[in-house]
Amino acid sequence: MRKPAFTARAIPAEQTRLIRHRVLWPHKESAASCTIDVDEADHACHVGAFDEQGKHVGVCSLFHQRSDRFPEAVPPSDAVYRLRVMGTLPEVRGQGAGAAIVQFAADWCREQGAQWLWCDAREVAFPFYERMGFSFVSGRYEVPAIGPHRMMALKL
Ligand SMILES: CC(C)(COP(=O)(O)OP(=O)(O)OC[C@H]1O[C@@H](n2cnc3c(N)ncnc32)[C@H](O)[C@@H]1OP(=O)(O)O)[C@@H](O)C(=O)NCCC(=O)NCCS
Repeated sequence: MRKPAFTARAIPAEQTRLIRHRVLWPHKESAASCTIDVDEADHACHVGAFDEQGKHVGVCSLFHQRSDRFPEAVPPSDAVYRLRVMGTLPEVRGQGAGAAIVQFAADWCREQGAQWLWCDAREVAFPFYERMGFSFVSGRYEVPAIGPHRMMALKL
């Protein structure tokens, strides 16, 4: 059977909130509360994935941000972007929506002059990020209320 095609594009911050709520933070009281303090920062980019009918099926957000956990292999002069709040609707998983988002994100970060794209990966998402070319760059750490994570990074 033919795989569906997904497209990814930049979207306004407020369009990320329904999917953030449904996929990532269902414990929060409403979609309106699914915000990050830097959502409206000048350096932020929000990405949406859409199916062939134009239905919104996935999100991530990109922020110009380093981490204390960044390994010594990455010089402080390297520009880095952080990928956060990545999620696709359960009914489209495994069909390419996540890959469309990461591809757009990597291209966009390269256009900003970034050398690295990194994320705090949830354990359940390790195989996805590895498939997308990310490598582990930290050991395991616990994010309160969510669980084990490792930092992963993609050389752009
Ligand atoms: C992680 C997530 C974003 C992946 O999205 P997706 O739409 O399923 O991703 P894709 O279909 O584009 O997958 C791309 C590739 O990764 C593979 N992949 C995705 N999830 C995988 C998993 N859990 N285990 C193994 N492979 C996986 C796909 O099979 C596909 O491989 P292919 O290129 O050989 O076909 C999605 O599962 C999700 O939203 N999970 C819940 C929220 C979450 O954990 N977010 C990450 C927070 S760090």
